[in-house]
Formats: sequence, C-alpha cells, structure tokens
Amino acid sequence: MLRIAHITDTHISKEKQPLDGINTREQFLRILKEIKTREVDLIIHTGDVSFPEGSRTVYAWVKNILEETEIPYLLTPGNHDDPFMMQEVFNVQNLPAKVITTGAVAMKGQSLMFLDSSSERLTMKQLLWLKREIEIEEDQLFLFQHHPPCTCGVKVMDEKYPYKTPELFQKNLKETERSLILFCGHYHIEKELTLSTPDLKVFITPPTFGSIDPDSEDYHIKDQRPGWREIRIESQQLVNTSCHYLQ
Ligand SMILES: [Fe+2]
Repeated sequence: MLRIAHITDTHISKEKQPLDGINTREQFLRILKEIKTREVDLIIHTGDVSFPEGSRTVYAWVKNILEETEIPYLLTPGNHDDPFMMQEVFNVQNLPAKVITTGAVAMKGQSLMFLDSSSERLTMKQLLWLKREIEIEEDQLFLFQHHPPCTCGVKVMDEKYPYKTPELFQKNLKETERSLILFCGHYHIEKELTLSTPDLKVFITPPTFGSIDPDSEDYHIKDQRPGWREIRIESQQLVNTSCHYLQ
C-alpha cells in the first residue's frame, strides 16, 4: 500500500506577507505537523509553492521544512512557480529529482505520472511523452499536475484562470481509450469530477491556506481551514482518497 499526502497551493510569499489575511507559512507548517502524525510514505505538492512568483528564498525555506519531516516528497510546479528556479533549488545533482516536470516515478511498486502545467497548457513535448507513457503502462494510470484539464463548474476559476488546452488533453486521452485518475489543485476548493469521454476522474485538492467560495463571481477565501488529501494506492489501483481539514 502506498499512502500519499497530497498538498497543493501553499502560496508562500518571499516577504512573509499574509495572503487574504492568512499566514500561509504557518498554515503550511500546521499541515505538515498533522501529516507527520499520519502513516504517510510520500508527500506530493502539486504547485503554486511560491506566490505571486517563483522565489529562491521561498523554495529554500520550503525545502528545509519538507526535509525536516523525513518523509519522501515530490513536487511539480504551478502557474505561480518558476519551474527552472524550483529545479535549481530542490534537485540536487546525482540524487533522485524532487521536482518532476514531465516524468513518471515508481514508489513502493506504484507508478505515478507528473506533468508541469505552469505554462497553463499541455505542450507538444508533454503530449508525446504522455501518449508514450500511457502505451507502456498497463495498469491504472495516475497523474499529478497543478491544473484540472477541464472546466469544473467553479465560475471564477473556469473563466479567469482556466487550463488553456482542455480539448487537446481530452482528445488525446480519448484516443488512447484508457482511463486516467488525475490529482490536482489550482482551483482552491475540494471537488471530484468524472468525465465519461474521455474516461477521466479528477480529484481537486484544497490549498493548505484556505478554500474559496465555489459559487462566488469573485475570488475570495470563504473557508480558512487548511486542507490536504490522503490517497491510498495498492496494486496500481486507487483504494480510497479523502480530504482532511484542520480547524
Ligand atoms: Fe494555480
């Protein structure tokens, strides 16, 4: 059994400024403290580590905090991140990469795919990699990326901050005739979506600093509780997944 703690959208600023009145550093520390009390094999961060833009100072601070948990961890960048800067800080030469932009990682016999959606789109290079990887992999497919590759019925995010290539992603997945389970963040809410064509299940994980009102026309934090998602995978099948919140 592979037990993953999925976190996303830590939105930590270099200047230690509160975001929407919330201390994002403190919320991140609280979440990691909670995760440390659980049986977790791997922490996955799906991006927007830093906010409003990539920062070496922020990445170095986050790296230090993640290392202190002594739990293996992986990251993939979000639209507020700088993928190159992230790799420079987190990826140490001759050691397995911590920041995965486009690639698959095996952990406890389970295969996990990662795509960097910091450009808000699926690039041709990524598309070719994804199709090849799907062909090779015979079992259930798991993908981690920052953006949901579809509209999600959250007006403010669907209209203002959407993934720019949903058709390309979905068309190509449909052509493979495979089903895909995707874990993401970016929408600042907890949500599950099931598409039948293509066969796609999307699990959106809430940020570590608070969730927005999904029915609002404007972006504002409605729920200040930090959240994270627990994912259990065994024999390359999803056993269960659920979100947890701190008070
Ligand atoms: Fe984002």
